[in-house]
Amino acid sequence: MADYIRKILVTSALPYANGPLHLGHLVETIQTDIWVRFQKMQGHDCIYVCADDAHGTPIMLRAQNEGITPEELIARTDREHRADFDGFLINFDNFHSTHSDENKELAELIYTRLRDGGYIKTRTIKQAYDPEKEMFLPDRFIKGNCPKCGAEDQYGDNCEVCGATYSPTDLKNPVSAVSGATPIEKESEHYFFDLGAFGDMLKAWTHEEHMQPAIRHKLNEWLDGGLQDWDISRDAPYFGFEIPDAPNKYFYVWLDAPIGYLASFKNLCAKREDLDFDSYIKEGSDTEMYHFIGKDIAYFHTLFWPAMLSGAGFRKPSAVFVHGFLTVNGQKMSKSRGTFIQAKTYLDHLNPEYMRYYFAAKLGSGIDDLDLNLDDFMARVNSDLVGKVVNIASRCAGFIKKKFDGKLAAQCSEIKLYEEFEAHGRLIAELYEKREFNAAIREIMSLADRANQYIDEKKPWALAKEEGREQEVHDACSVGLNLFRILITYLKPVLPHMAEQAEAFLNIPPLNWLDIAQPLTDHEINKFKPLMTRIEQDKIDAVLADTQKLLAANKPAEPKKTKKGNNMDPIADTIEFDDFAKIDLRIAKIIKAEHVEGADKLLQLTLDIGGETRNVFAGIKSAYAPEELEGKLTVMVANLAPRKMRFGISEGMVLAAGPGGKDLFVLHPDEGAQPGMRVK
Ligand code: MSP
Ligand code: ZN
Repeated sequence: MADYIRKILVTSALPYANGPLHLGHLVETIQTDIWVRFQKMQGHDCIYVCADDAHGTPIMLRAQNEGITPEELIARTDREHRADFDGFLINFDNFHSTHSDENKELAELIYTRLRDGGYIKTRTIKQAYDPEKEMFLPDRFIKGNCPKCGAEDQYGDNCEVCGATYSPTDLKNPVSAVSGATPIEKESEHYFFDLGAFGDMLKAWTHEEHMQPAIRHKLNEWLDGGLQDWDISRDAPYFGFEIPDAPNKYFYVWLDAPIGYLASFKNLCAKREDLDFDSYIKEGSDTEMYHFIGKDIAYFHTLFWPAMLSGAGFRKPSAVFVHGFLTVNGQKMSKSRGTFIQAKTYLDHLNPEYMRYYFAAKLGSGIDDLDLNLDDFMARVNSDLVGKVVNIASRCAGFIKKKFDGKLAAQCSEIKLYEEFEAHGRLIAELYEKREFNAAIREIMSLADRANQYIDEKKPWALAKEEGREQEVHDACSVGLNLFRILITYLKPVLPHMAEQAEAFLNIPPLNWLDIAQPLTDHEINKFKPLMTRIEQDKIDAVLADTQKLLAANKPAEPKKTKKGNNMDPIADTIEFDDFAKIDLRIAKIIKAEHVEGADKLLQLTLDIGGETRNVFAGIKSAYAPEELEGKLTVMVANLAPRKMRFGISEGMVLAAGPGGKDLFVLHPDEGAQPGMRVK
């Protein structure tokens, strides 16, 4: 046991209950889970809680779209989230919901304390309102044309085309994304939290060790920029908690979300007698409280949250640990690129410990983004875990079983080597503690290399064939398995399931950090079963293929952001088969091709589609001279509505492939095709 048992409360950010978990979410829970498992292995009293973040407009509207109640939606999501977290071996002590009695009670308590302390003010503000749906519209539910560049279909307060930021009221031709109605401006009384009153407290707080340098820097920038009052109320209809003594006003989702950490813990305390809620959250508590979060929500956790806690007379977090964002193959996770991989899709095909290991190998204590490169993922897991770690055991186990009745040697013949491995535990523990998981993994893998090197030098497989060298074989394999046991101990926070199997194989109780002080000697082990198999490329391909399918099937669910200029994306928006079936593609013979006066891109084509001729203007002048085309076949869309152009009416379209310029290809090979034939 550790000399001093720390009491530590740990949280991961609460995922929104309006959608499935994806691998980005898992970066965070895996990071937190590794840290918590490490603390538990050190003998500390470490509690890990989380919950679903169940309130807010998007959840309310999503439930309406699906024709269910918000309660039904969040109950379903709760089941899905729990199953996914389980699948990734995330070992919460409790998983709860912000839509819970505990959270209502705590939100009301914190709010009334803030109000009675004089930190809540009211003010009438003007806001966009959907007169048809009779609700105020959050920024992301208003779209219109960018006030700067005029780009259409821009959401909320920034333009994806020119990058301008503005207030949603500046949008030209604004419409409600909920009903399509034109929003009006409407007044309403809102409740505000006086964040500015906590400026000095927050300034002092940033000077202590509560956050990473990059975040401290950001926080100081925010503090120097001046702290605005924070709008904490929303008008009905809203899915959330009503504000006490304020009928039809609801707490903004971000007010009760972090309180959800405490609510989940309180819910756990009711189930466990040894835990006393108040002693953890009272001002001056000697327990520790840490929040693991992504960098997008640092503002809420380093400004609002400590201020709320402090204003309500509770302890502040010991630290907020911020991580970067997951990218896939070097780019932001994206629906159009098919890299928005859901947790469940991954789990359908791959072992969760592969990803736990990969994230651990990449995660440091900083806020840099981390990249999931799928080739690197496969190579790294196969070479480190299967090729190095598991290999040690599989090289030694057979000899022990067959030649020595499954018993390890009575003495450790390489005490120095063993002690060196054991001594590394201090450094590795320090790295885990500081969340330098990548450095910890580097240390562990260099030890794994040493262990393999040792076995290579001893060559038990060669010794086993020689007479009178039994003892050497026994010693070498026993040392190998003892080194393996140390490595598994160090990897256990990352690979809990593999560690469990290794414990069963080694026939030992659950490994703890301090157990490895003594080697295993004269000890009977069990039969070795492969602890992990290699990642196969076809499994990764299956994850990607399923991801594509899901994205295609779910397309209309989210309000769609149309991005301009992304037509080189591998999969643009999909259409249904029925849409495709409507297109009438025909072989057409180009009977005449001519220049069009005054047009620099167009050629005018006269097309024969089997007894019918069509006049089509095609933008292919950069690639073809008219005489190259006459008499040849092409493919046209025959049922496109005629379109009036500056030069005449175009009665269809020819299909062209290629990037443009000289590289445009419209001709269809002649082999047996007849004008008018259907193409599909
Ligand atoms: N509900 C809020 C958090 C409330 S905490 C009191 C929220 N939910 S979220 O579902 O959008 O995100 C949950 C966590 O996942 C956040 O910490 C967020 O930063 C993290 N991530 C979401 N996408 C991510 C990546 N692509 N990469 C890494 N982390 C990501 O925010
Ligand atoms: Zn713009």
